[in-house]
Amino acid sequence: MIEKNFKVAIAGIGTVGCGVISILQNNAQHIQQQTGRKIEIVAISSRTKNRERNVDISVYQWIDNPVELANSDADLIVETIGGEDGIAYELCKKALENKKHVVTANKALLAKHGNMLAKLAEDNNVSLNFEASIAGGIPIVKALREGMAANKINRIYGILNGTCNYILTKMSDLGANYFDVLKEAQQLGYAEAEPTLDVGGFDAAHKLTLLAALAFNTPIDFSKTYVEGIQKITSDDIKNAKLFGFCIKLIGIAQCKNSIISQRVTPCMIPLSEPIAAIGGVMNTVIVEGDYVGRIILTGPGAGQNATASAVVADIADIARGIFIPFFGKQANDMATLSYASIEDRVGRYYISLEVEDKAGVLAQIATILSKQGISIESVMQKAHEEKPDSARLIIITHETLEKSLLKALDEINHSNVNKIEPHFVRILTVKK
Ligand SMILES: NC(=O)c1ccc[n+]([C@@H]2O[C@H](COP(=O)([O-])OP(=O)(O)OC[C@H]3O[C@@H](n4cnc5c(N)ncnc54)[C@H](OP(=O)(O)O)[C@@H]3O)[C@@H](O)[C@H]2O)c1
Repeated sequence: MIEKNFKVAIAGIGTVGCGVISILQNNAQHIQQQTGRKIEIVAISSRTKNRERNVDISVYQWIDNPVELANSDADLIVETIGGEDGIAYELCKKALENKKHVVTANKALLAKHGNMLAKLAEDNNVSLNFEASIAGGIPIVKALREGMAANKINRIYGILNGTCNYILTKMSDLGANYFDVLKEAQQLGYAEAEPTLDVGGFDAAHKLTLLAALAFNTPIDFSKTYVEGIQKITSDDIKNAKLFGFCIKLIGIAQCKNSIISQRVTPCMIPLSEPIAAIGGVMNTVIVEGDYVGRIILTGPGAGQNATASAVVADIADIARGIFIPFFGKQANDMATLSYASIEDRVGRYYISLEVEDKAGVLAQIATILSKQGISIESVMQKAHEEKPDSARLIIITHETLEKSLLKALDEINHSNVNKIEPHFVRILTVKK
């Protein structure tokens, strides 16, 4: 029996949308062999019809209003417009209500409306697939929902934002400061003109929130993700990190212990011996720790036209084949409601950077304040300040401690008579062997 064509409509003909069209055009035969069906683009829609694109769209039916695609004869709608609300949300909702499968690359939308859209997809017996929305070309959703289905996940973490990884890698390689590297990244197109979504950690946090929901079978809850960006990381921090055998990366990390979840995106110091430390430039990596399989590491391009479109087309191919996996890997009604830890409950090692008066007894005074909070010092380094003769820089690596205790100690140091500028700290990634 010859299967009929699988009909697709695409909304948002920008970077990713054009990539999807390009793959469906260039690899049409290959994808037909893979899925057993011809994938046919029946309609497209975007804001601007006539502008230069790297694919020929003249052969497709153009619909002015993207939401109207939900009323087309397509089996599946691809949403590559973006944005957490607005037209992307309206289109996805309407398409699912009209019993059309949806494939989206939009993590902001899912971080906000994912629970509701997942339920809507289930109620209408259609799929809502979103591989491209987390770590671009890396098949992490497939790995979690299918490949690791036998495992309880203890922890999932990784580099989820290529822009931040590029900036931190360049700061490390060139010894350059944050603002100079950000400017260069903007000129090269690796960072947006308004970079806050990336450098503030929010883009990574959208992805981490989705990963945590998949890993721990809980509803998506972006408000429970602690978010800290890379803006305060200095070139001195990076130099000091190297002296102690670390590099600095923006890490998204979610773990579940005794039914309590912690999910956070923060800059972290990582031992240079860890595989994740070697992931430079715009690459992404996701590490999953399962109770039976152990540690899985997936690395690849986390963004870009081809990589992201590759993930979108893989989702289309799955649905064309007749593979329907619920959004969370299980029914949305069966999700566990667990509790969440605050960032202050974190227990781990810390890097502390202080600027203090350069006089006898200061180190002892700092050590006393730390020890009052039960914080013991693993290593310490004191350097004369290059520009201020009466000041010294004090770099401290602590043993494992509670973040709440660290914050109390830093507050006391900040108000002490020997302190010069507000103390600064970076979390050190806890490595499990
Ligand atoms: N780029 C990546 O590497 C990447 C990676 C992973 C995930 N994503 C996600 O993929 C989605 C698309 O990203 P992108 O990089 O492809 O963005 P993009 O290049 O800006 O493309 C978005 C397209 O949507 C169209 N659009 C915007 N507002 C619209 C509206 N109100 N009505 C109709 N069309 C509208 C724009 O139309 P016109 O051009 O026609 O004016 C634009 O071409 C986002 O959710 C993003 O987070 C992107």
